[in-house]
Amino acid sequence: MPRLANEVAIITGAGTGIGAATAELFVREGAAVVINGRRREKLEEVAAKIGQPDRVAVLPGDIRERATAQEAVRVALERFGRLDIAVSNAAFYDPAPFPEADFDQWRKMFDVIMLGAFHLARETAQAMIASKTPGRIVAVTSIHGTQAEPRASSYGAAKAAVNQFTRCMAVELAPHGIRANAVAPGFVNTPMSVYEGKNELESEWFKKNYVEGRRIPLARPASPEEIAPVILFLASTESSYVTGHVLVADGGLTCTF
Ligand SMILES: NC(=O)c1ccc[n+]([C@@H]2O[C@H](COP(=O)([O-])OP(=O)(O)OC[C@H]3O[C@@H](n4cnc5c(N)ncnc54)[C@H](O)[C@@H]3O)[C@@H](O)[C@H]2O)c1
Repeated sequence: MPRLANEVAIITGAGTGIGAATAELFVREGAAVVINGRRREKLEEVAAKIGQPDRVAVLPGDIRERATAQEAVRVALERFGRLDIAVSNAAFYDPAPFPEADFDQWRKMFDVIMLGAFHLARETAQAMIASKTPGRIVAVTSIHGTQAEPRASSYGAAKAAVNQFTRCMAVELAPHGIRANAVAPGFVNTPMSVYEGKNELESEWFKKNYVEGRRIPLARPASPEEIAPVILFLASTESSYVTGHVLVADGGLTCTF
């Protein structure tokens, strides 16, 4: 039995990486998906790869705008007739030293990560409550939300805010039968790992410290296909007694220091 049979999900940041792998897995598990991201062509590539046009709706748009989340909910309800799951995954990584990092950099980081999660969760929770759907909200955050390293203050603070937003939602949405959880990955091999034209997961620095030095006990980064099932678990009824949880998927990285 597919684990998301006849269910409907919205996934943001689904044109690449973890979001794209999650959309593919959700459709394989019986769901219909509304996939959002900034670039139509990337979303169309994901839809073509999935190859089931009757179960994929492509919705380009900036998740910093409330209208994008509203439109995603409208498409889910009008095209697929229901809304069960929202995966808040859109983000970018822009390392900047503190205190040099400027206001605009911080503002954009919080707008995409925190405000994006807020818009999606608010619009979907309202629709789920109105239709009495026992929905699931899943945020993709990061181990940066709990661990600190140089140049990650805006990204880390925004991810920490989403972790806490998720716990607060779990408390307030529980009376409606809606659960809210987060997944916090460590290093994952996606376009986000490429910075200034270089994939940091292929750098000597990464290999020396994290692989050979085993700062990641599993001695490798994850693939997006290894994070998608973690999101699936929290998005499915298999996790029916789990809410307000931040599930770390980091190959053991946060166990070492
Ligand atoms: N790659 C990693 O090592 C890693 C580690 C921990 C957490 N994460 C988190 O995983 C999630 C997915 O990232 P990924 O690694 O797949 O990288 P990615 O760059 O492939 O995916 C992020 C997606 O978000 C989209 N996006 C950015 N701004 C947007 C906006 N304003 N509106 C709509 N979409 C927007 C991008 O276009 C992109 O497709 C992110 O939340 C990221 O912070 C990634």
